[in-house]
Amino acid sequence: MNQNLTYKSLFFSVLTVVLFLGSSFIPLEELEPVNFQYAASEDLQIEREVLKILQTKCNVCHQRQNPFMVFKEQNISRRAGKIYQMVFIERSMPKGTDYQLTEEEYSQLKNWLLKQKIN
Ligand code: HEC
Repeated sequence: MNQNLTYKSLFFSVLTVVLFLGSSFIPLEELEPVNFQYAASEDLQIEREVLKILQTKCNVCHQRQNPFMVFKEQNISRRAGKIYQMVFIERSMPKGTDYQLTEEEYSQLKNWLLKQKIN
């Protein structure tokens, strides 16, 4: 019993040494660092563009006609599902003909929506 324990701890000590030595053989510079900062700033850039679209093509009207649906940085993620539904499924927004979206604006909006959790 006691001997068993000794073998066990010996085994784990050897294993630790092997793993430790093994890990030092991976040259650090070959490990590709994931550039989270870059990904985050790209997302931020997309969100800024989308906010600009929502401000100029949606809020201009909502401010007067639908004040509970004014889009802001703090609420656009929550409203992604509604935006998707109204703009791409029902195609009822932007309402009327005064504030049409350009092709580029549609694709920017779509790009952003693809990154949102829509329920
Ligand atoms: C000219 C006015 C006008 C413009 C422009 C407009 N909306 Fe609206 N929107 C409305 C009105 C009014 C309502 C209230 C419901 C209705 O009348 O259809 C509404 C409702 C909504 C709703 C809520 C729908 C629901 O189910 O509660 C969403 C989401 C929405 N709009 C998204 C947008 C987006 C996104 C844009 C821009 C791309 C936009 N709207 C542009 C007038 C507008």
